[in-house]
Amino acid sequence: MTFLSIREVGPRDGLQNEDPVPADDKVRLLDALSGTGVGRIEAVSFVHPKAIPQMADAGEVWERAKKNPAVRYSALVPNTKGAERALAAGFTEIEVVVSASDTHNRRNVNRSTDESLDDIAGLIDLLHRGGASAEVIIATSFGCPFEGDIDPARVAGIVDRVVADGADRVAFGDTTGMGTPRRVEDVVGPVRERHPDLPLLLHFHNTRGTALANILTALRLGVTEFDASIGGLGGCPYAPGATGNVATEEVVHMLHDMGYETGIDLGELLEAGRLAQQIVGRELPSGVLKAGPRVPLAKS
Ligand code: COA
Ligand code: ZN
Repeated sequence: MTFLSIREVGPRDGLQNEDPVPADDKVRLLDALSGTGVGRIEAVSFVHPKAIPQMADAGEVWERAKKNPAVRYSALVPNTKGAERALAAGFTEIEVVVSASDTHNRRNVNRSTDESLDDIAGLIDLLHRGGASAEVIIATSFGCPFEGDIDPARVAGIVDRVVADGADRVAFGDTTGMGTPRRVEDVVGPVRERHPDLPLLLHFHNTRGTALANILTALRLGVTEFDASIGGLGGCPYAPGATGNVATEEVVHMLHDMGYETGIDLGELLEAGRLAQQIVGRELPSGVLKAGPRVPLAKS
């Protein structure tokens, strides 16, 4: 049976796109997710509190969360200040982000893509010296809400650069759900060929309903790591119209039925999904959360 690594990103990518919720609720959600069997959780980001007020209490939330030793937790940072905060908080897996699109990158972190890549080279060193691994997330890899199509060769060039600079992992972010199976093949295929041993993680938003099809396509290209967000929370505040990461329940439900193993207990996951709905005070898009699983869950 093939094991697929799912990283739950609801506490960060999800909640950053909702009205701010109290630290108590963030801690409850993190703790619930930590008990689902999921192997990785993106817990918080250390960003400027004016840029993303939803993450202003990241330090407090992380301090109060129960740390399950079976879970790999990570934090996202946009710059040196964020990296220092994340290292000081004790994170050993840290993500830095750059957009393949210059316009999106400027809106997100106030720099061109090339300027960010120069910064990232230094950030990777800083993280390594601090005892953490460095993942580079390439946002807008499958299209940009401002610029439209992004040339896959541009994405591949960014991968070459960050790998040369020492990145431990690369993630392709479909920040606003512009990916389609064809685009996944165009972006992922050449990179897999050029860097067969590079751990590659895919991050899809279901804005236009293509996320599960994209995951299936990436699976066929040999990708085994995916981000997903509880209930389908999520988006990016600098990308108009970006709603809903692919829902973790939907991903797990589909993959388990296909015979893949994720370590996740779907019943526990649905509990966490109901909690997420309660916390944000609205129905979340996950179809599995709404309709229940395909077959009743075995009582454990
Ligand atoms: N955490 C807390 N404070 C930070 C910070 C961080 N990560 N980065 C910068 N600051 C503070 C600096 O200390 C400085 O404070 P001061 O004015 O009191 O000295 C101030 O912010 C300005 O710093 P500067 O480096 O000039 O930042 P900036 O104004 O160019 O903003 C970012 C750039 C990256 C900090 C900001 O755009 C940001 O946080 N973006 C996050 C975007 C994001 O998370 N998007 C979601 C992922 S898709
Ligand atoms: Zn996202």
